[in-house]
Amino acid sequence: MDFNVLILAAGEGTRMKSAIPKVLQPILGIPMLRYVLKTVESLKPVKSAIVLGNGKENVQKAVDLDGYTIVTQKERLGTGHAVLSADKELSSSPHPTVVLYGDNPFLQASTIKELVSAYYSGEFGASILTVRATDPAGYGRIIRDSNDNLSSIVEEKDADQKQRLINEVNAGSYCFNTRKLFEYLSDVKPHNKQKEIYLTDVIGIMVDSGHKIQPVMADNEMETMGIDSKNKLAAANALMRDKINSKFMEEGVTIQDPLSTWIQPDVEISRDTVILPNTLINGRTSIGEECIIGPNTLIEDARIGNRAKIQFAVVKESSIGSDTSLGPFCYLRNQAVINDSAKVGTFVEIKKSSIGKKSKVPHLSYMGDAEVGEDVNIGAGSITCNYNGKTKHKTKIGDNAFIGSDTLFVAPVNVGEGAVTGAGSVVKKDVDVKEVVAGMPARKIRKREDE
Ligand code: UD1
Repeated sequence: MDFNVLILAAGEGTRMKSAIPKVLQPILGIPMLRYVLKTVESLKPVKSAIVLGNGKENVQKAVDLDGYTIVTQKERLGTGHAVLSADKELSSSPHPTVVLYGDNPFLQASTIKELVSAYYSGEFGASILTVRATDPAGYGRIIRDSNDNLSSIVEEKDADQKQRLINEVNAGSYCFNTRKLFEYLSDVKPHNKQKEIYLTDVIGIMVDSGHKIQPVMADNEMETMGIDSKNKLAAANALMRDKINSKFMEEGVTIQDPLSTWIQPDVEISRDTVILPNTLINGRTSIGEECIIGPNTLIEDARIGNRAKIQFAVVKESSIGSDTSLGPFCYLRNQAVINDSAKVGTFVEIKKSSIGKKSKVPHLSYMGDAEVGEDVNIGAGSITCNYNGKTKHKTKIGDNAFIGSDTLFVAPVNVGEGAVTGAGSVVKKDVDVKEVVAGMPARKIRKREDE
């Protein structure tokens, strides 16, 4: 069942009252068009094309359109006009064309497949997705003849009182006979209240020319929701949150307060992990088993092992081992690596640094561009002075070192294995293995003895 896909995404989104193109308005922080693209890509159409217009450059920057033929609609003259802009690219295709709207992020691949199967099930000019709307306001109404066959679509603004009472509406997804679509579209005139060339008028013209239209009724109204206002955007965010949370709960993740837990679609979480309230998990994050995440935590593009405990924390682009403890109130970013059984405590920032197994940075510290070995204890208030105003430098602290409170490491500097720094040390020179240093700048006192 081969088919092409054409996505219409050139509209101005006037009802959003925003400088951002409608298809880039975010759902869980991701432009809504990306959801549509992901669904389309899973279906592997013969040809995929997208119509852009309003904010074209911004759309191309925000979403990856590799593999799509990009068509430009120079003026926004309606959905039919948008399809006509793809005439050159598609009209000679022997395959049917699925037309979708870029503001329908909930549409599922299985529904598109149903639409295509319905088209292929007989001699049809098109198949079309309809739905019974709780509130049909704003949608095109499906008109059926006395034999219950679909005869045309009337847009809300052009509908009379009686037609407005119809609650079967056009969900905005179609599978068309490509040749006939373009043939009849050239007959569509903007003779309506909005003075637009409506794609929906092709349906009536096809029926008048003796073609049958196969309707497919969606059973889930949410799936067909078009997001065209900030109110609908908020509703879409909540629905997407619920859908994702519910999937995780079915897979064995405990979410204590689903209403305040926001997880993006590409996140992976294993069973028996508990997510506590006010937690956001974004990007390509994976979380292992039996972790406790939250409350009040933001995690983005991070890899987290098993049994990690992360509370009141911000963790970005970092890797966290198993049996670790982070927070409350810490910030990990830019490739922080926290190895198994390590602890990062209160008011600690870790940037582009690795903290070895079983090491502890418990209080009020900054570790930037540092390599901290295993079983190291970093005393409260210790800081790597990694930036001299021009370049960043590294600090290396060996295994089993014991760092006194308020130690400053003026990088580049190396501290040997088992070395000790006294409270308030300013370490400007390398410290040897097992050496004990103190003072400002730290000077050698003695050699550490074996315990
Ligand atoms: C459209 C349908 C309506 C249906 C509803 C479902 C038409 C005429 N009406 O109405 O029957 O119930 O969708 O959501 O098709 N676009 C362009 N270029 C344009 C105009 C629109 O690319 O010149 C794109 C928009 O970016 C959007 C999509 O087409 O992604 C739908 O356009 P919109 O104006 O929102 O259509 P509706 O009024 O919602």
